[in-house]
Amino acid sequence: MNSDHQPKLLILVGSPRRDGNSMALGTAAQRGAQMAGTAATLLVLDDYIQHFLPDLRHAPAPDDRYAELFLDHFLPAEGVLFCTPLYWYGMSAQTKAFFDRSFSHYAGSGPEPERVKAAMAGKRLGLTVASEETYPGAVLGVVHQVQEFARYTHADFVGYVHGAGNRRGEIAADPRTPLLAAEMLGAEFFTRKYSDYRLETPRSHNVWASPPPPAAPRG
Ligand SMILES: Cc1cc2nc3c(=O)[nH]c(=O)nc-3n(C[C@H](O)[C@H](O)[C@H](O)COP(=O)(O)O)c2cc1C
Repeated sequence: MNSDHQPKLLILVGSPRRDGNSMALGTAAQRGAQMAGTAATLLVLDDYIQHFLPDLRHAPAPDDRYAELFLDHFLPAEGVLFCTPLYWYGMSAQTKAFFDRSFSHYAGSGPEPERVKAAMAGKRLGLTVASEETYPGAVLGVVHQVQEFARYTHADFVGYVHGAGNRRGEIAADPRTPLLAAEMLGAEFFTRKYSDYRLETPRSHNVWASPPPPAAPRG
């Protein structure tokens, strides 16, 4: 990336409700990104995905707009935020189909899968999950799945937001302020500190540039 290049954020909403809680989280993230001067596009998966991965995985492609979504929006984006409702302790079928259908584009040999794999790699990824239940464990399966996708694609999984609501837009009433957290995630998508150590990783003792002063001795 050269220094003039402005990274692009793609926000993918995986709920069939266009005015639901996932959309509220996605639009909050988009608002935050735009306030930070980041170009952010929000798309609804239902507009692009009408089919599951077919038996013949490579051809013919199902008759919907997945190829446009994957090739023209997902691949060029430096950052992608997945906004899914929690369905049966997992991601929505729309969101899962997004990942499954990518197989048709990157699997196999030849120049096109190689180009696709190179463009899939190295993104910043984020996640929001809207659920009815409030306990943190309810969404961990989704978090883990996106974490593994990030590992597989050499991506940086920079953050996730979990909020609770059931009625459309009710997530705004969650006292843990998930909409604010989503706005901050959008704003910091490309600047938030990301660290993931290995044994040999050089590191300093401080995580942050200006740590708080040491605690005063107790008298
Ligand atoms: C098919 C289905 C399955 C659901 N499964 C769960 C669940 O396992 N746990 C939970 O907390 N909420 C569950 N919910 C509730 C939704 O996660 C909740 O209503 C969420 O806010 C919907 O987000 P949306 O408004 O973006 O569609 C389920 C809802 C549906 C329709």
